[in-house]
Amino acid sequence: LAGVNLLVVSNRQPYRHEFASAADEEVVVERPTGGLTAGLDPVMQSTEGTWIAWGDGEADEAVADDDDCVVVPPEDPAYTLRRIWLDEEAVDEYYYGYSNQGLWPLCHSALTKTRFSQRFWDTYRAVNERFAAAVAEQCAGDRSWVWFHDYHLALAPRMLRDRGESEALLAHFWHIPWPGPDVYQACPQRRELLDGLLANDLLGFHVDRYVENFLDCVEDLLEGAVVDRENDAVRYDGHRTLVRAFPMGVDAERIDRQSASDEAAGFWWEFAREHDLVDPERQLVLGVDRLDYAKGILERFDALERLWENHPEWRGRFTYVQKGTETRTGIREYQEYQNRIEEAVERLNERFGTDDWRPVVPLGERLSEEALAGLYRHADVALVSSIRDGMNLVAKEYVAAQRDVDGVLVLSRHAGAHDEPTFAENVLTTDPLDTDEFAETIRTALSLPREERRQRMERLRRHVRTYDLSWWMDAVFEAMNAIESESRRLH
Ligand code: G6P
Repeated sequence: LAGVNLLVVSNRQPYRHEFASAADEEVVVERPTGGLTAGLDPVMQSTEGTWIAWGDGEADEAVADDDDCVVVPPEDPAYTLRRIWLDEEAVDEYYYGYSNQGLWPLCHSALTKTRFSQRFWDTYRAVNERFAAAVAEQCAGDRSWVWFHDYHLALAPRMLRDRGESEALLAHFWHIPWPGPDVYQACPQRRELLDGLLANDLLGFHVDRYVENFLDCVEDLLEGAVVDRENDAVRYDGHRTLVRAFPMGVDAERIDRQSASDEAAGFWWEFAREHDLVDPERQLVLGVDRLDYAKGILERFDALERLWENHPEWRGRFTYVQKGTETRTGIREYQEYQNRIEEAVERLNERFGTDDWRPVVPLGERLSEEALAGLYRHADVALVSSIRDGMNLVAKEYVAAQRDVDGVLVLSRHAGAHDEPTFAENVLTTDPLDTDEFAETIRTALSLPREERRQRMERLRRHVRTYDLSWWMDAVFEAMNAIESESRRLH
């Protein structure tokens, strides 16, 4: 990336500044925990680029300079983080509104949950315009590479071009599914969104299925666009956009290392003692999710209930731990979903619990990466039961932490990860909407012979270590490089 002015643009920021307490002015910096922010951060540090994102930390404004920028990371300043300030109305209408009640349910094919009000749309446009304006100010010279992320910013690429930024190379990675035209056409702004995204030179999705869906939508719904199936490209408005799948990976080496750390061992030992998991006859089944309806968490509880109901011999022989992170609580659906999860936990514990066995253990507190890796390492079975999911990195994190290679991954066929053949061949596939089948699959996982567990997990681990986060980033940058060389050749 030598000589490239790299600009990363996303709704979520990689660092958040908060006041240590309500009373004093001391500022603390919260570290990125998500895969993307953690993965891109070292690249940004080495290229000295600029990251543009929503400043949602309480102390973000206090530490910003006159240009809304701060240099990060705090202990070894290497690149610029430029914040976009959103007032309450913008947060309500752009973030909670159009992004998370319009596009999120649309792209997860949950049409009955969508809300596409005009107010949401107007604010979404306005906020995208502000992101585009900030990016335009940071573009310099002929080698600016702008990398947009996700569904919050579908219009910003077009708006950037409309500001005269024709030279910059624009790439966009869409981290969530893209539905087929029958679902997508329910969106009132279906054409504007396609038009916005097709201002990019490169548009990335996790898997081929979403690439196909996107091209189908363009073909069916966008007049004037020509889809080139052979090259997975679209020609539209005099511009060519390459549309490709880049299955995202995780930093497998780091997770493996964390799973072997003292902190991981310490956490695990405490946890196992507290929840009676020291007994080798009692297995640990684990779920790790943002508490989002797309993750199929309630369906998982239904399956567990069915299993304990139909097979009483499995009562007491495993404990299900649900690590859950609160998310988007400003939206009614999410609050209700969290309440229903709490109810399900209570229901199962009341129904099946005994004096020396608590069937379901909810884990709401924030865990360090090491503690989580420790939990993954010791989980005999992990359940990923998304109804729809762009990729699902939990599936990959679990595999990366399985250094004793004795766990089993149960994976929904509707998660993007399941489109990778190595996953499809080595997980136990489930359909979370089929409660009986799901329950049986969990039972099969719990009884899988050791040698078979090992063979499956070894193959998964090789895959996850090869196609890791840096492989993913290199693949995207290589594609950008190829596009840039080609356009130089043509001019
Ligand atoms: C998904 C999206 C990300 C988003 C994350 C957390 O993974 O693809 O763009 O950042 O969820 O959601 P939040 O609303 O907290 O950013």
